[in-house]
Amino acid sequence: MYSIILQAHHWIAFIALALLAYATINGAIGSNSEKVFDDSHRKINLFALITTHTMLLLGIVLLIISPVAQTAFADMGAAMKDGAVRKAVVEHPTMNIIAAVLVTIGNAKSKKAVGNGRKFKVSMIFFGLALLLILSRLPFEKLF
Ligand code: HEM
Ligand code: HEM
Repeated sequence: MYSIILQAHHWIAFIALALLAYATINGAIGSNSEKVFDDSHRKINLFALITTHTMLLLGIVLLIISPVAQTAFADMGAAMKDGAVRKAVVEHPTMNIIAAVLVTIGNAKSKKAVGNGRKFKVSMIFFGLALLLILSRLPFEKLF
């Protein structure tokens, strides 16, 4: 079970990162142009949200069942002193929960914002910030 969830969290990571980057780039290009924020842009934002939420759900399950997390939670003092463990079970989850919240707010705001420019700009800021937070605590060495 653990290995299936870990594999899913590993491979869906690529899709989530790609969609977040796509949504951010769409937003950046759109905010300085006369482009119309159409259904394709709304859907990319929605797919970025769905994959990020899926990562959130898988990540919460990992925090409960991962042997790394279980050992860490058994002795939190020791876990906090070990950089690699602290990153995996504290920094990465905390940062990515914040990122998931930003993605959720960004998706909702991009739908509610008035005017194409505003919709693109909101997408760029919220999805871009979420992507930066995720990248700041991403275990690149495990991903590749
Ligand atoms: C721990 C797991 C999850 C949490 C805490 C969570 C939380 C949320 C929250 C707070 C919202 C915003 C609701 C609103 O607009 O008022 C939301 C919306 C949504 N979530 Fe999740 N979610 C989780 C997992 C998932 C998963 C696994 C999926 C899909 C595979 C998913 C798909 C969606 C979709 C499609 C929306 C609606 C977006 C929209 O309004 O356009 N979520 N979720
Ligand atoms: C889009 C956001 C996220 C991305 C791109 C991401 C990516 C990754 C990657 C690439 C790994 C390494 C997987 C491996 O060892 O093969 C990992 C591990 C982990 N992630 Fe995430 N993650 C995200 C969100 C989250 C969230 C929200 C949580 C918790 C709430 C979480 C909890 C964990 C944990 C606990 C591990 C370590 C599991 C272990 O080694 O046993 N992740 N994540």
